[in-house]
Amino acid sequence: MLDTSAGFAAQALAATADLTTPVAVVEETVLERNLARMATLARDSGLKLRPHAKTHKSPFIARRQLEHGAVGLTAATLHEAEVFADAGAGDIFIAHPPVGAAKRRRLAELAGRGLRLAVAMDDAELARDLPAGVEVMWEVDTGLHRVGTAPGEATARAVAGLPEGRLRGLFTHAGQSYAVERALAARQEWEGLAESAARLRADGIEVGELSVGSSPTAAWAAEAAAGGITEMRPGTYVFGDANQVALGAQQLEDCALGVVATVVATPERERRVLDCGTKSISADSRVQALAGWGFVLGHPDLRIERLNEEHAVVLGEADLKVGDRVVVIPSHACTSANLHPALLFVGAGEPRWEPVVARGWN
Ligand SMILES: Cc1ncc(COP(=O)(O)O)c(C=O)c1O
Repeated sequence: MLDTSAGFAAQALAATADLTTPVAVVEETVLERNLARMATLARDSGLKLRPHAKTHKSPFIARRQLEHGAVGLTAATLHEAEVFADAGAGDIFIAHPPVGAAKRRRLAELAGRGLRLAVAMDDAELARDLPAGVEVMWEVDTGLHRVGTAPGEATARAVAGLPEGRLRGLFTHAGQSYAVERALAARQEWEGLAESAARLRADGIEVGELSVGSSPTAAWAAEAAAGGITEMRPGTYVFGDANQVALGAQQLEDCALGVVATVVATPERERRVLDCGTKSISADSRVQALAGWGFVLGHPDLRIERLNEEHAVVLGEADLKVGDRVVVIPSHACTSANLHPALLFVGAGEPRWEPVVARGWN
């Protein structure tokens, strides 16, 4: 693998020299390039961009996404939606079913703030007593087999149970793109929605929005638009990560989030231990093509073999001794960012901290 991220590593190491590791660092010029690229891809493809802000949970990055032309944001939790509303977002889709009295109460409070709001569901029962003005984005299962009705007839039958005037549109998330060929997942994503919309429209049901979204399938935005899709919701693209690189969706130089760690032991010549573990770089998911739990910048032959809570066991030959520091690009950026109260921004002016305000589950 060609490692062209030496600039990021040097800046991250310099900015954190006096800090205790592990510490999460964002290269802001790389982040900005990722934001601009996705905004251009969406615009050129004729799709609205509604990025999934669960990746960063940061008001600053949310505002930059909106300034780059996003029509609104996608959120996973009520907490995220509240934080991004506070940050100025006026149009939020909560891509999670609103189940339980506490979530309903918070949803009603959000709706009372005059936002344009939609929620996800695949069960018409959940649309009963939705706060006034909150629309429904119906979830179609196009291959992930998580939430969602099957495309076509099953979706048409289920959507027919919604109260009149609630449906904004259909959405799907091709999370299977992390496990199957990306082009196939992209096709499943937009074909499943297009087929379902055609079926509903044949029954006289108006379907406004058709929303797809995952970073690995984003490259097929133009094909999706040609198939009738109106909106895309990629999330991970802002930071990139080792999973995206292993899938071929982004390059190593597109990775904007790294964790600076210190070598704390070298028990064997080809085994050393870093002070970053699952409490600073997430072990949530790793695609099959990725060997190890991320990349060590500048050391393409090292493999992060194992993670414990505060230890990363790294195998391979490298000129690294106890006390040396390295920058790790995690396998999954979203769950890694969620582990840190703040991210240290470098690369554009003086280093500064940006808080990860919407982290956690409160
Ligand atoms: C509903 C939904 N939409 C969009 C996304 C964004 O996908 P990615 O993180 O691959 O960009 C996700 C990711 O989990 C999701 O669950």
